[in-house]
Amino acid sequence: MSNKMWGGRFSDKPADIMTEINVSIDVDRKLFRQDIAASKAHAQMLAKQRIISPQDAKKIVHGLDKILSEIAGGKFRFKRSLEDIHMNVESRLADMIGPAAGRLHTARSRNDQVATDFRLWVRDVLDELDAALADYQRALAQKALTHAATIMPGFTHLQTAQPVTFGHHLLAYVEMASRDLGRFADARKRLNESPLGSAALAGTSFPLDRMMTAKKLGFDRPMANSLDAVSDRDFVLEALSAASIAAIHLSRFAEEIVIWTSPIVGFLKLSDQFTTGSSIMPQKRNPDAAELVRAKAGRIIGALQGLLIVMKGLPLAYQKDMQEDKEGAMDAFAALALCIAAMTGMVRDMMPEKARMKAAAGEGYATATDLADWLVRELKMPFRRAHHVTGQIVAIAEGMDLPLEKLALADMRKVEPRITQAIFKVLSVENSVASRKTFGGTAPANVRREATKWLKQVSRKRSGKVRGR
Ligand code: ARG
Repeated sequence: MSNKMWGGRFSDKPADIMTEINVSIDVDRKLFRQDIAASKAHAQMLAKQRIISPQDAKKIVHGLDKILSEIAGGKFRFKRSLEDIHMNVESRLADMIGPAAGRLHTARSRNDQVATDFRLWVRDVLDELDAALADYQRALAQKALTHAATIMPGFTHLQTAQPVTFGHHLLAYVEMASRDLGRFADARKRLNESPLGSAALAGTSFPLDRMMTAKKLGFDRPMANSLDAVSDRDFVLEALSAASIAAIHLSRFAEEIVIWTSPIVGFLKLSDQFTTGSSIMPQKRNPDAAELVRAKAGRIIGALQGLLIVMKGLPLAYQKDMQEDKEGAMDAFAALALCIAAMTGMVRDMMPEKARMKAAAGEGYATATDLADWLVRELKMPFRRAHHVTGQIVAIAEGMDLPLEKLALADMRKVEPRITQAIFKVLSVENSVASRKTFGGTAPANVRREATKWLKQVSRKRSGKVRGR
C-alpha cells in the first residue's frame, strides 16, 4: 500500500532502505509540543477565515489536545512508517476524529510546518539557556564576593605575571556569560518571526491571516518572503554559533579547574560531589566534570560546523537535506545546558587553597611591575628606565635565589641609590592588588562593588524585569 499522506500517484510502497534513510521521527518527535501548538493555531485561524468550519476546527483542536497528553504521558505509539512528527500527529488525529482531520493541512505544507516547529523549539531552548546562564552568573558573583580579597597569581603565557584576586578572576567569567546572554537574546529577537502560512514555498491561494497565527505562537510578525521562510535555517545556525562561543568560555574555565586542582598546582579543591576516583589508583581524585565540559565544547562546535556545511550549497527553497538540521543541534543544546549546570555546580563547590594561592602569587617576581611603578611615582623616573632598573634588581635577586621583598635594601641601592625603605611596602602581594583600583582593576574594593552589582542585576532578571543583558 502506498503512503496515505502523499501516495496518490504511487502504487508501490517504498523499499525498506528508503524508509530507513527518510525517517526523522526518532529525532523530530521532540518537537511534539511545538508541532501541536502550531497546528492548533493554524486550525483556529482557518476557522476564523472561514476556510474550514468552526465545528471541524473544534474537533481538530480537541483532538490535538488529546494527542498532546498522550505523547506527554508516554502513551503515544510513534510509527516509523509515518516518517515524521507531523504525519504521526495527523494520522492519529484522523484515527480520533475522522475526515475532519484531513482539513487541517489546508494551506499548509510540512515545509512551513517544520520551519515553524523548529523555530519555536529553538526559542524555548534559548529561554532555558538564558535562565541557566543567569544562575551560573549568580554562583560566580557569590563566590567572587566571598573571595574578593583572596590573592592568587595572574598569568600571561601561563607564567606568573602579577597578583590578582580570585574574585576578580571569577568575575571575568561573569562578563563572558553576560555577552553570551546578549548573543542569545539577539538570536531570539531575529528568530522570532513566523514561517507559518508560507506553505510549500510560494504562499497559498487561501485567504490566511498570518498575523493571527504569528501572534498566537508568540512570534513578533510573519516572515515576509515565503521562499526565505521555508528555506532559512539561520535561526539554528545563529543560536549554535552563540552556543559555541558560550561553550568555549565554559571550556576555558573548565581547563583552569583541571590545572588548578592538579596536585602540582594545588590552587583549588573540589569535593566528592564533583570529582571521581580511579579504579586502580586509590589516591586519585579526578576532575571529570570539568574535563567533560572541556570536551563537550568540541561537540557543540561540531554541530555548528555540520549544519553550516549541510546548508552551504542548497538552492532555494526547501531541500530534504534540511531535515539533518535537528539531530546535531538538539544534541548541542542539551550538551550546553549540561555544561552550564555542571560549571554552576563546580563554582558553588570549589574551595580555593588560599595559602597556596597567595604563596604562588608572590613567586616569580610577580610584584616587579609594582617596583617599577614605585620608581616612576617616587623618583619620577621614565617608565622605560624604571623597567630596566627593575630588571637589574630582579636579576640580582634571582642570582641570590631570593624573592624581591627579601632582597636587602643595600643590594637594590647598588642599582639605584635613591631607593628607600618605603619600597618594601609595594612589594607585598596585598599591596599590589589593593593598589589596582582603576575601573576594571583587580582591587578587592572593585571586586566587592562589581560582585554586588551583578548579584543585584541577576536577581532583578530572575524576577522578570530584564531580558537578555
Ligand atoms: N521531516 C521533514 C524535515 O524535518 C519535514 C519536512 C518534509 N517536507 C517535505 N517536503 N518532504 O525537514
